[in-house]
Amino acid sequence: MDHFIYKDGELCAESITVRDIAREVGTPFYLYSTATLLRHYRLMDEALAGTRHLICYSVKAASNQAILMTLAAEGAGMDVVSVGEYLRAVTAGVSPQKIVFSGVGKMIEEMRLVLSGGIRQFNVESESELDDLSALAVDMKTVVPISIRVNPDVDALTHAKISTGKSENKFGVPISRVRQVYAYAATLPSLKVVGIDVHIGSQLTNLEPFALAYRKIAELVKALREDGHDISRLDLGGGLGIPYSRSNEVPPLPMEYGALIKREVGHLGCEIEIEPGRVIVGNAALLVSRVISIKSGESRQFLILDAAMNDLVRPAMYDSWHDIISVVEPSADSQETVYDVVGPVCETGDTFARHRWLPYLKPDDLVAFRGAGAYGAVMASEYNSRRLIPEVLVKDDQFAVIRPRPTYDEMINRDTLPSWL
Ligand code: LLP
Repeated sequence: MDHFIYKDGELCAESITVRDIAREVGTPFYLYSTATLLRHYRLMDEALAGTRHLICYSVKAASNQAILMTLAAEGAGMDVVSVGEYLRAVTAGVSPQKIVFSGVGKMIEEMRLVLSGGIRQFNVESESELDDLSALAVDMKTVVPISIRVNPDVDALTHAKISTGKSENKFGVPISRVRQVYAYAATLPSLKVVGIDVHIGSQLTNLEPFALAYRKIAELVKALREDGHDISRLDLGGGLGIPYSRSNEVPPLPMEYGALIKREVGHLGCEIEIEPGRVIVGNAALLVSRVISIKSGESRQFLILDAAMNDLVRPAMYDSWHDIISVVEPSADSQETVYDVVGPVCETGDTFARHRWLPYLKPDDLVAFRGAGAYGAVMASEYNSRRLIPEVLVKDDQFAVIRPRPTYDEMINRDTLPSWL
């Protein structure tokens, strides 16, 4: 459920019409709803009620300071994969003791900065990372809490590009070798094993892969405890999917996911950490765009929007579906027609949807992409020298631009010239 609904024939974000915001901000732009963001965070929290747990929101999904601050005020922890994300989380007021540092290729300088600022735990991905981290911690006279990321060799049944838990993926330590790696970690100075970490992929619409992975983790906890390790935290990653299409997708509910966690690992007495991104912020934003023109091709009609693949890359990159709706509510008896929905960027990949049934639209009409909150604004680029588009946050009847559209000068003047020009 989200807070983007039609009222009196107009699409609203909470209590404001999308059209009013568009008039003030200009299109295209991302439009987040505070109420939806909080609703999804709280649902995840309730799903784990009765267990000791920390929700470490995955900053990579949407990292605007206003989003992070909204979640931090709810008590959220954060999962970060770079110094940039770490500093964003700390700047938003998240205690370092609630931040986990994940990532397959952490650099020494990043590790140093994070260690000096403080951290809840490193999720370590390899023996060489253990070596680097131990040497650094000795040098910095500190002790680092670590979990080791396990690759459980489980197929997440999601898009290949966002599947991370199969043995051929670059992530984690193969489950067959993980006891040895824990034994090795225990020999290194200044590292303190606190738990196990796993993340098998993103946009999972089926709970079975989670169950398979978590069952393997539960067995591993027993084995590692027998080996003498103190496993008191389980970081179960993120990955729960959202409905991108209202008509034919029904991913599991947070409650069902929470029940699965309790069933599979609840008996182990560990503190549960999860790293959800998409399920918290995915449906909490629209991408609002304006129709530039409609063009008839040989065999199809192109709906040309002012948003493009540089603003929302998911359809081009993962062939992903986003529901597209008209900002003016179509009347019950209105006819639909079929469009290829495209942007103005100079490549055919700049296609949001093929053969999509939509109400009849005309130039200057506004449309909204649903489910644009996760991996939307954060993956945008300036390709074709198109400026990064604004982000706007609504709360009840107020809205604020939380990242402005840069001017053309600001964009161009980021370049610096060599002495010979
Ligand atoms: N934890 C780790 C270690 C991750 O790698 C990820 C996502 C998450 C948590 C959060 O996963 P979520 O709950 O959001 O599924 N750009 C792609 C998604 C990439 C996901 C990368 N890792 C997309 O637009 O679908």
